Amino acid sequence: MSHFPFITVAIDGGAASGKSSSSRTLSERFNLLHVDTGSFYRAITAEFLRRNVPATDLPAVQAVVAGLQLSTRVNGRSAMMAVGGSVVPEAEIRRREVNDHVSHFAAIPEVRTALLAYQRGQAGVARERGFRGLVMEGRDIGSVIFPDATFRFFLHADPLERARRRAREGGDDSIAERDRLDSSRKTAPLACPPGAISIDTTFLTLPEVVETMAAPIAAQLSR
Ligand code: DC
Repeated sequence: MSHFPFITVAIDGGAASGKSSSSRTLSERFNLLHVDTGSFYRAITAEFLRRNVPATDLPAVQAVVAGLQLSTRVNGRSAMMAVGGSVVPEAEIRRREVNDHVSHFAAIPEVRTALLAYQRGQAGVARERGFRGLVMEGRDIGSVIFPDATFRFFLHADPLERARRRAREGGDDSIAERDRLDSSRKTAPLACPPGAISIDTTFLTLPEVVETMAAPIAAQLSR
């Protein structure tokens, strides 16, 4: 048994809001399992595309979802989702076609339900592997997946600055359109949940964003 309390850190925000870089840094600093739930929605989207199932064909979507075999591999401090025993490669889940389709699949309630227990189960993976907690990033982590998380952060930034960040990363991604779809869907829309700490990252450097989140975590852990 660990002598430390297990902590959960939920980080939500739009595309290119700074979630991934800051949650990766926090996972290193505090020995937390890093869980990027966007990569889960992307891997499932790649699976739908591979099977030629469009988001408009609900019976086919439901049939795929019912047969999904999901498991987790831990690579360093990152949780990777395996579909049917294989991790879908990064190059595949970040490609343009997945960018263009992921928000449509993510808006389908049956798809979100299929991932709910799997995402909550990552806390068990983190405990089994001896992590001090988990940091999970997404759109609905502090609102739906872990509403009782020890810390809940919501990152946002000016859309132009986010487009610049994504372009610097070399991404080919219509982030404004994805955010529009993710914020306007009926099930678990992207929004700052009541009580979460909202951080505007437009004029902050990555170390400043990380520090804003790390300070209360460090204070809690030193108690
Ligand atoms: O974090 P990302 O940009 O890689 O996420 C890809 C898409 O997945 C995003 O446009 C919406 C969806 N998503 C979601 O609906 N809920 C989450 N918790 C994480 C991602």
